[in-house]
Amino acid sequence: MSPMQISMTINGTFVTHEVEPRVLLVHFIRDDLRLTGTHWGCDTTNCGTCVVLMDGQPVKSCTVLAAMVDGHTITTVEGLANGATLDPVQQGFMEEHGLQCGFCTPGMMLTARALLDHNPHPEPLQIREAISGQICRCTGYATIVRSIQWAAEHPAGAAPETTTSESTEQEVHA
Ligand code: FES
Ligand code: FES
Repeated sequence: MSPMQISMTINGTFVTHEVEPRVLLVHFIRDDLRLTGTHWGCDTTNCGTCVVLMDGQPVKSCTVLAAMVDGHTITTVEGLANGATLDPVQQGFMEEHGLQCGFCTPGMMLTARALLDHNPHPEPLQIREAISGQICRCTGYATIVRSIQWAAEHPAGAAPETTTSESTEQEVHA
């Protein structure tokens, strides 16, 4: 089939591109746009490493055709931070050690962002339910749940003050 032209807003930038109708969104994002934070971990729509936000809703981009996002808005992990300021979710994963190898992390963080946008104070069970479409091989999930709770408790994303003063003290005595 001949390529078709699609347009979308991705991480705040309007993009027009030619794609073949059979191309999956995950491959379009990674191979054509070179946004390789979105990962591809299975062939059966189970792992969720490919999750991006489509109009604010988490979707598995391995199960969406690029052509289907024509006219829609996509957010990938590269668009989560506000300039040099991490999204509270990103900060939370750092504070609570919510990642190890990091392969599942982009999808986890985008689902967390969508959850908190919808429900700013989720219970741990609601967090577990929200990420239940995503597999992590490393963490055992407990630290991921805590990371998302941290983000809920720090909506502005600021690191705890004690961290800053402790590190300043250490510098002084070094
Ligand atoms: S790559 Fe596994 S669900 Fe999309
Ligand atoms: S941190 Fe390795 S798969 Fe989740």
